[in-house]
Amino acid sequence: MKNISSREPADKLIFALDAAGYEEALSWIELLSGHVGMFKVGKELFTSVGPKIVESIKQRGSRVFLDLKFHDIPNTVARAAEAAVGLNVDMFNIHAAGGSKMIRETVDAVAACAEKRGIKSPVVLAVTVLTSLNNSDLAEIGFETTTSDLVLRLAKMAQKSGASGVVASPQDIVTLRRNLGEDFVIVTPGIRSADEQVLDDQKRTLSAFEAIQAGADYIVVGRPIRQAKDPLTACRRIIQEIADGLA
Ligand code: C5P
Repeated sequence: MKNISSREPADKLIFALDAAGYEEALSWIELLSGHVGMFKVGKELFTSVGPKIVESIKQRGSRVFLDLKFHDIPNTVARAAEAAVGLNVDMFNIHAAGGSKMIRETVDAVAACAEKRGIKSPVVLAVTVLTSLNNSDLAEIGFETTTSDLVLRLAKMAQKSGASGVVASPQDIVTLRRNLGEDFVIVTPGIRSADEQVLDDQKRTLSAFEAIQAGADYIVVGRPIRQAKDPLTACRRIIQEIADGLA
């Protein structure tokens, strides 16, 4: 399944809702609903606040990317995925390293569950290799390969097993797009503008313009908006970069 979004630039911007608690998260949702395409809810916020954060976003008419990176035996991940469908999330992710059976069972369970509820299936993304791992980390856990080879191998396996797309680092976009075709969804974090002085803990970054031009379908942006003096202006500037990248 290709993109749940149009080519509307704003739809391609996913805001990383990395807030400390419910009230702070809610104030970001109030500010940015209608401006960004989706809100990404991660492990920290979901664990502390729970499903009500997803409900709050959906109530305001916005979309949700549930970033919980499920990784377990196939049955457990499939049941967790059904619970995500029950929350009516628009996108969620699983670890490709859980294997083809885990991915296939999850994708099938999601399709069946969405059909039963009469709703659209969420986009199932696979996480390939965490960007916190380098080649020596892979060797330490017993993988005699490079991160870039493993990313491509896992992405191909995820695609074959029915996943709709991957979360990919900026430097993997071009290779993945070339190998996996136009219909495979690529979601990319690690976005910083060329003129941004503070890179935080992101080391290998691209601008929104570059990521979209390279073939990303969605970009995930957190701190460049959250820590901006004027978050809405920062948000609009990124959307303009996306528009330029699409053009
Ligand atoms: O604040 P920043 O724009 O760096 O936020 C990026 C978001 O994407 C964070 O929620 C972070 O956890 C997530 N992420 C990432 N790099 C990855 C995968 C996810 O930054 N490789």
